[in-house]
This record gives sequence, C-alpha cells and structure tokens, in this order.
Amino acid sequence: MFPRNFWYVAGWDWEIRRQELFRRTLCNEPVVFWRREDGKPVALEDRCCHRHVPLSGGRLRGDNVECPYHGLTYDCTGACVRVPSQKAIPPSARVRSYPVVERHHWIWIWMGDPALADPALIEDYHWNDDPAWRFKGERLQVEGNYLLLVDNLLDLTHLQFVHRTTLGTEAISNFPIKVEREDTRVRVTRWIMDSPAPPFFQKAGGFSPTEHVDRWQIIEFTPPGFVRLDVGAARAGTGAPEGDRSQGFTMRNLNALTPETDSSTHYFWGQAHNFGIDDPSITEMLFNQVHTAFLEDLVIVRNQQSNIDAYASKLPDQVDFGQDAGGIRARRIVQDIIDAENAATDQH
Ligand code: FES
Ligand SMILES: [Fe+2]
Repeated sequence: MFPRNFWYVAGWDWEIRRQELFRRTLCNEPVVFWRREDGKPVALEDRCCHRHVPLSGGRLRGDNVECPYHGLTYDCTGACVRVPSQKAIPPSARVRSYPVVERHHWIWIWMGDPALADPALIEDYHWNDDPAWRFKGERLQVEGNYLLLVDNLLDLTHLQFVHRTTLGTEAISNFPIKVEREDTRVRVTRWIMDSPAPPFFQKAGGFSPTEHVDRWQIIEFTPPGFVRLDVGAARAGTGAPEGDRSQGFTMRNLNALTPETDSSTHYFWGQAHNFGIDDPSITEMLFNQVHTAFLEDLVIVRNQQSNIDAYASKLPDQVDFGQDAGGIRARRIVQDIIDAENAATDQH
C-alpha cells in the first residue's frame, strides 16, 4: 500500500520526550516512541507480543518499556528482557524495532528493511535549522490519503479558488507550467510575470497593491510524500527569472506528508524565510498566513476523501487536464516503487 524502504517523518523533535511514551500510527502501523535516558529517540511496534496490548499505555523503567497488562519488559531493540511470571524468555518474545534518526527538527523513521536504513538517504530539509533562515512549522491532521495532498501541492492553480483571500490572484492560471522529471524527482515551475502581488506577498515583500511583480513557484516532489516549494516575488522586470532575486523575497514551504492510514495523513510542514530573520513577527506572520491557507486545503481534501469512500469500488475514473502533469508523474513514481518493492518481496 505504501513504499516501505524510505525515511518518513514521524514527528517533531519536541513531540517525542524523555520519560514519556508516545503513540503514533504511521503507514497503518502503530508505533510507540520515547527517548532513552541519553536523549536518543527509540521506536518500537506499539503492540505487546503477549496479548497485543499497546505498550504506549505502559511505563518506562530506565530505557526499557513495561507492558501495562502483565508486565513484560522490552529493551530498545524490541527484545523482551523480563517476563514477571517466569525465568525463561523465549526468543520469539520480541516486537519490531524501527531505525530512527533525529535531523532538521524531525524524528525520521525507516518503515522498511532495517538493513537498508542508510541515514544518507534522509531528504534535505536543512532550512528547518539553518542559521541563515528562520522557520516555524507544525503538524496538521489530514482526513485524506497523502497523495491527495501531493496532487494539491503540485497543482497550484487551486490558489486562486481555494485561497482567494490569501495566496491567490486571478493571474495564476494564465501562466503555463513546465513539468520536468529526473529519475524519481518531479519539478513543476511556473512564473507569473508582471502581475499584481497577492495580499500575503504585499505584506511579506513590502510591495504596494498597485505594484507589479514577477512571481515564481518552483515545486519539487520526491517520494513518497516530500514536496518542497521555492516561492517568492520580485519587482517586475528586475531579472528574477535570470537569477537576480535582490528586488524581492524568497521563502521555502517545506512539506513532509506521512501516511497515517489509507485515508489519513500526518502533514508536517514549515515555512522558512531568509529575509528579516531578526524579526520573529515576520516568521509568525508567514506561518499564520500559510496555516490559514492549509486549513482551506484540508477541507477540500477531506471532502475529496469522503466522496472517494462513498463511491468505493464504483468510483468513476477522474478526468485529467494539463495542470495535473506534476501529480500524475508523482503518483506514477510512487506506484512504480510500490510495484518494485512488492516484486522483491514475492521473490523471497
Ligand atoms: S499483554 Fe503485554 S504482558 Fe500480557
Ligand atoms: Fe493550497
């Protein structure tokens, strides 16, 4: 159902605390997290091997977790190290442990074969903790499949309808997109030339309501659900398309979509900017604007998902347009990965 051999974002670093058990479902699997006494995060399957009770309801004893039902105790590798009712511990008394890495303010989890979990494969989100940038992020609960959000982020023609009062202007869909695929990466680029700045951009870039800007949206997708947007605007005609952004401002909108279940998603996102980094009110303002816009997306995605569920197996094929080129490629990449992983599993 989901690509397995990937690092997914499991949580913000501040969500996983020492001496606290934290349950989160990822790719349909319940996982319990905590931090060891030395601060290192740990992730185990959140299910006691004895009678399936969630370990997250138990308690920590040092670095080990004790099941709340009959007290089986597991170490950080998932091995049972204590059965209160007997001395012998059968080797089958263990639960799955997941590789975890803390990076860029996120806790990353590897959902596939632990032997393949190379931290060098973690996606680049350095903007989250680069001193040249400031950022603020959050997790949103989405009642929809993660690929609906991938579609959403790769087709920004929705801005002028869904985000009419924040990010949208009438001009957007008049300008063409360029869609490129390199290996498993998809890039969608749109330049909105010589047009008025939307309200949000007027505030961020100090443009007047009548002033024209050249505005860019450069969106990059990598599987399974990473979408990074390079967005900004500069005074019209000052050379931004050629690389001179000095008469404007740049932001990164950084999204990591982790499936919770087939029809729900953990939406980790942050907004980063490299201007006014000494002024926290700018970070707040940018965050709040995008947060407001994303809540509008979540309504659309929830309604899409409930329609998809209502039709179930009778769901008619959808009709695609040119604007969907990015999302279609992204979905094909994800499906190819799932097919390849399934084929590899069948061979074993
Ligand atoms: S269910 Fe966990 S110890 Fe019995
Ligand atoms: Fe949106």
